[in-house]
Amino acid sequence: AFHEHPKPLKLSSDGWFGKFDKKQVKRGFEVYQQVCASCHAIKHVSYRDLAALEYGEGEIKTIAAAATINAKDPLTGELKDRPGLPSDHFPPVVYAGQGHPPDLSLIAKARHGGASYLHSLLTGYTTQPAELLKRFPDAKTPDGLYYNPYFANLNIAMPPPLTSDGQVTYTDGTKATVDQMATDVSAFLVWTAEPKLDKRHQVGFWWVGFLIYATVLGYMAYRNVWAAKK
Ligand code: HEM
Repeated sequence: AFHEHPKPLKLSSDGWFGKFDKKQVKRGFEVYQQVCASCHAIKHVSYRDLAALEYGEGEIKTIAAAATINAKDPLTGELKDRPGLPSDHFPPVVYAGQGHPPDLSLIAKARHGGASYLHSLLTGYTTQPAELLKRFPDAKTPDGLYYNPYFANLNIAMPPPLTSDGQVTYTDGTKATVDQMATDVSAFLVWTAEPKLDKRHQVGFWWVGFLIYATVLGYMAYRNVWAAKK
């Protein structure tokens, strides 16, 4: 009764004809980099994937090089640290706090509600309702956890990550309100979970068009073949 359903979040990638708003997805990446990346990895994303967000080759090299990648030396086979390359994936994150921040690359698919859930979770931290404490005193949020009615078991180990306007600096000059940041990072996580969504929607459109055409053609051929047999 205290768990809440996500409030619907509309994104341009929704629906049969949806397409990513690349500017928004790029802002979402900025939120990820500046806020979420200290705790959460996105292991299925490589630096060169950022080309889809209209990052240039030079920018991608710079972003990759800022990361430290532990990889085999191609000559000696020894594991060692080196700066990232565009072909590298985002590296694992070592987290010292309470709980286990999950990898976020596929989270928009993994959680029921997708982007709506992410947006509601990020903006949904609140104090525990008095009614809940009255009915279930044992459900009091333990130390080190935070009450969030959108999280399945109500008390989450993630501290509220988006707390103040202007927390993120957007390169496109958009005003970084908490709601804006939550919306943009949700759009970004829909993209990481399905980077080929645009292509799928486009191909699907032509496929349905072709099927309708073939059906009409088949029907006309049928009428033509049987026209003399009344
Ligand atoms: C869990 C997103 C920042 C620590 C999660 C979950 C999501 C998420 C979707 C999974 C919730 C679920 O299981 O349904 C984000 C986003 C962030 C962000 C989008 C940036 C805007 C952070 C930061 C920290 C953190 C900065 C560390 C200080 C955690 C932890 C969990 C978690 C520990 C596990 C919670 C639990 O299972 O109780 N986060 N997070 N997150 N996050 Fe974050």
